[in-house]
Amino acid sequence: MKWFITGGCGFIGTNLIRRLVDEGGHAIRVYDNLSVGGRSDLEHITSFTEPDPDSLEGGPENEVELIVGDIRNEGLVQRAVEGADVIVHLAAQSGVPSSVEDPRHDFQMNALGTFNLLEAARHNKVGRFVFASSAAPIGECEPPIHEEMACKPKAPYGASKLAGEGYCSAYHGTFGLDTVSLRFGNVYGPLSGHKSSVVAKFIRRAMQGKVLEVYGDGQQTRDFIHTHDLTRAIMLAATQPDIGGELFQIATNSETTVNDLAAMLVEILKEETSLDQIDIVHTEPRAGDVRRNYSDTSKAEEVLGWTPEMTLTEGLRRTVRSFQSGQK
Ligand SMILES: NC(=O)c1ccc[n+]([C@@H]2O[C@H](COP(=O)([O-])OP(=O)(O)OC[C@H]3O[C@@H](n4cnc5c(N)ncnc54)[C@H](O)[C@@H]3O)[C@@H](O)[C@H]2O)c1
Repeated sequence: MKWFITGGCGFIGTNLIRRLVDEGGHAIRVYDNLSVGGRSDLEHITSFTEPDPDSLEGGPENEVELIVGDIRNEGLVQRAVEGADVIVHLAAQSGVPSSVEDPRHDFQMNALGTFNLLEAARHNKVGRFVFASSAAPIGECEPPIHEEMACKPKAPYGASKLAGEGYCSAYHGTFGLDTVSLRFGNVYGPLSGHKSSVVAKFIRRAMQGKVLEVYGDGQQTRDFIHTHDLTRAIMLAATQPDIGGELFQIATNSETTVNDLAAMLVEILKEETSLDQIDIVHTEPRAGDVRRNYSDTSKAEEVLGWTPEMTLTEGLRRTVRSFQSGQK
């Protein structure tokens, strides 16, 4: 299979590529503007080549290659996608707070950027298009979130991801492109040292001797999924036949308050590291954050044959160990 992975230098991208490289037999073209992930992040997991973006022909040949480019660059995206069997579209503006600060940028990255990739997939007759969405399109609701719920995004990030889902559905309906949208839960795991999501931030701050800041009363809930489970779901979504146009919740069916997460992490950090004093403070709630969030993943189980395997305790322990080993 020839894979085209946007955002492949980022957190989820590097975890996915590591899995593909370990499995063997895949040609991978990474397309990343290096705004967040860098060459060193990719180097950390695999060797790769960098073909000349001006003379790209016939898709990836080497095991892994990197093209430095922006998903908003329509022309380069069109050329770079040529020859790919599957696109996994991960590159995005991926934060709720930054979407609140600059909604236009969020729109250009997530709505227009995804549209550019879909156009390139259509013109290059790519066999499968996997879109990284999130639970954010749903907005405030009574969980568990499922695929049939009406979407009422609360933050611009949710709106731009919903636009991406909408275009995936339309490109399947109109052009027959095999799109699959995956709504990831709150992802954590190794290679997340740069992330501002709660697990990575708590581990980083604790290891720097800083207090853990919990927004609001900490009773807000999230559904935490480890990269081991998530990357397995992406690979199934990329390869399983007859799922074009589908949307799946990819999380763990469980709801954890941020207070409980912090308490679990403090315990694991004390067991796994030399830290004996980790303080927690409560700060102002964040604009655009939803109160409760967890997903019903029965559709993914029935259709993809996928269920999460990693318990939260085990996943957090492995993540702490990866930070400790310097792998982050
Ligand atoms: N991490 C999570 O918890 C989570 C949850 C739900 C959905 N998602 C989605 O999964 C995807 C991957 O998330 P991640 O956590 O790996 O993010 P990340 O920020 O670690 O990685 C994103 C990568 O995309 C690249 N990128 C950013 N803008 C780009 C552009 N304009 N052109 C080309 N490359 C660009 C960055 O350099 C980075 O390497 C995103 O679409 C995100 O919205 C993530």
